[in-house]
Amino acid sequence: MEHLKKTDIEIFTGINSEIARQQNVIELIASENIVSRAVLEAMGTPLTNKYSEGMPFKRYYGGNDYIDYCEDLAVKRAKELFGAEHVNVQPHAGSQANMEAYFALLELKDKILGMALDHGGHLTHGSHVNFSGKFYTFSSYGVDKETEMIDLDNVREIAQKEQPRLILAGASAYPRSINFKAFKGIADDVGALFMVDMAHIAGLIAAKLHPDPVPYADVVTTTTHKTLRGPRGAMILCKEAHAKAIDKAVFPGMQGGPLDHVIAAKAVAFKEALEPSFAIYQKQVISNAQALAETLMDEGFRLVSGGTDNHLILVDLTNKNITGKEAEIALDVAGICCNKNMIPYDTRSPFNPSGIRLGTPAITTRGFREEDAKQVGEWISKVISDPSNETLKKQINRDVQELCSAHRIYAGLTPQ
Ligand SMILES: Cc1ncc(COP(=O)(O)O)c(C=O)c1O
Repeated sequence: MEHLKKTDIEIFTGINSEIARQQNVIELIASENIVSRAVLEAMGTPLTNKYSEGMPFKRYYGGNDYIDYCEDLAVKRAKELFGAEHVNVQPHAGSQANMEAYFALLELKDKILGMALDHGGHLTHGSHVNFSGKFYTFSSYGVDKETEMIDLDNVREIAQKEQPRLILAGASAYPRSINFKAFKGIADDVGALFMVDMAHIAGLIAAKLHPDPVPYADVVTTTTHKTLRGPRGAMILCKEAHAKAIDKAVFPGMQGGPLDHVIAAKAVAFKEALEPSFAIYQKQVISNAQALAETLMDEGFRLVSGGTDNHLILVDLTNKNITGKEAEIALDVAGICCNKNMIPYDTRSPFNPSGIRLGTPAITTRGFREEDAKQVGEWISKVISDPSNETLKKQINRDVQELCSAHRIYAGLTPQ
């Protein structure tokens, strides 16, 4: 970063400090990951200079031969990875991919049935503060009060009553597998389209460690930066019948020029995901989540749904007499980064909810194994049992840094 250092010392310092933070912190935010140096390099290239509105080989600007080459490779690799009939790799973000999917499939104000935000859904699945809740007519399903898992009979009941035009599956904070085949059956029974937002679990699906929505859904959206471990961005997969509508919804419907440097980095990430080592990584993500879950349960924590099938855990802190916000702050001081989260049927507010969400994609990328996940669980338990003990948090922060330096990331990236 020698040019940046000369030109803009303030931003250089900010970036350098963030790299150091990432190197020294245990990152448990379930939606984050650590991209490879190859993905980083592709993003930091002059591809950012290019305008390339339109699709590969059908652009509105000249000079796109190499951009076409890169985007075409990204599309081919994504199709191979997920067995999709059609893929658009241009969406800038997961939220935009969802906007574009709704825009392609529906009329404004059409009815959609999605998962409630406070039961694990996403803002773009119908929250009233989001475009989705303002532009479309949402109803929602949640999890069963006892099992804290999706109750498909209940989904069917709501679908029959509401007669939605589209049924949406997928979540941001749901620790269990989703039965996409059963969702498709319900959608067919009520004559609805079926869409899946697989943002959180795309990496697990690519590795065939989670039921696959692609054969069943009309449209599948995903971010590329969570378990899939690519650059920040998104893509849309769909059946050939929806291909034209999806491409038109992305451009000119919702976006202008694609982020060509990011699309090149997506292609790199998809190549990595096609390697056998990616499936081994995803298996470890799940094993680490299960090791962390078991440790926390042994320490007396109550986990929503009693465990996890995927990369994330939702912890109900009610019996620990601490709120999600207090836990997030205390763990942060100890060098453990996570986010406060609503739990199903939460009686508290989203700003200070009863739970925290923990995920293992990032720690697994940096090489943590089950014994490390167990150690992390023990540290979490200690901090949460005594959150105002500053000496304890400082000691754990030192231990965290030691464990992180045994699993270094981006070695040599922070200039002296
Ligand atoms: C299920 C789901 N969909 C969509 C998104 C939105 O992605 P982005 O933050 O890239 O807009 C998220 C982000 O957390 C998500 O969890």
